[in-house]
Amino acid sequence: MNRIFSGIQPTGNLHLGNYLGAIRNWVALQKDFECIFCIVDLHAITQPQDPKLLRAHTREVTAAYIACGIDAETVTIFNQSTVAVHSELAWILGCLTPLGWLNRMTQFKEKAGKQRDNAGLGLYAYPVLMAADILAYKATHVPVGEDQKQHLELARDIAGAFNRRYGIEYFPLPEPQIFGAATRVMSLRDGSKKMSKSDTSDMSRINLTDGPDQIAQKIKRAKTDPHPLPDDVKGLEGRPEAENLLGIYAALTSKSLEEAVREFAGAQFSTFKGALAGLSVEVLGRIGDEMKRLMADPAHVDSILRRGAERAGALAGTYLREVQDIVGFLRP
Ligand code: TRP
Repeated sequence: MNRIFSGIQPTGNLHLGNYLGAIRNWVALQKDFECIFCIVDLHAITQPQDPKLLRAHTREVTAAYIACGIDAETVTIFNQSTVAVHSELAWILGCLTPLGWLNRMTQFKEKAGKQRDNAGLGLYAYPVLMAADILAYKATHVPVGEDQKQHLELARDIAGAFNRRYGIEYFPLPEPQIFGAATRVMSLRDGSKKMSKSDTSDMSRINLTDGPDQIAQKIKRAKTDPHPLPDDVKGLEGRPEAENLLGIYAALTSKSLEEAVREFAGAQFSTFKGALAGLSVEVLGRIGDEMKRLMADPAHVDSILRRGAERAGALAGTYLREVQDIVGFLRP
């Protein structure tokens, strides 16, 4: 049995990088795997969140999943906090996780910064909760970006620690499915930085809810260099902006980077950007329109989440009871 679990935090500003780097791949996977796609609101509160916005962003991510082509009939879509098993299992797994493992997590070090004593316990325990997300469903495969690879390796270690402690092959070790570099979308203002929802410049990213004019304008104003586009991929070395824009073009047309480079070999940026803008408006315009339509009907979005939570809760609940028995919790 192959089962996929993955999730996105409801922290707003879903952008092209989330689509090309994550959701688009999930759409392809849903045909071959049983899929559970979560909106990880428990993870979101490891940083301060405005309650009203957290709710709005939870619906927004749900709408994005559906608008991008995730089929809510066959795929389980829910927000993490509606299934209490995640928190309960995180506690049990936390009791098996040595601090030394958590101290190695680069994302914690980056997010906590120099003021480590001020960082919350939740931020520190974040990877344990992520392991609980995955193991609560005995997921076998986890599609994630490069930045989450370390957390996934930790989830495997924690699964192994549980199995060893209790002498039972209970949890499968989840396999990471890391998507290629082609889907690593960089900032439109700086080709060396990832496109990010927290970048202060809105011009650095294409939001999934941007209208056609905004999309076209952001592409036309995207940073470039003064040279025409190269004849081969090697010519992209040291030209991160050119590489990023060609990579986006390749991803949106499902071509390889080589093919995209060949298509625009020797072209001026202005010509290429015209083509890229047209293409982006076509693909993202459709998604944005559908998202807006869905977000205008929150009752419908909520009904999708409710149904997902029922399915997820039933499955995870069964496993949690088995885990409780293994651990030795009396269930009188
Ligand atoms: N930490 C992931 C991120 O920020 C989100 C996430 C939470 C996740 N739980 C997960 C991803 C479980 C995959 C599986 O991108």
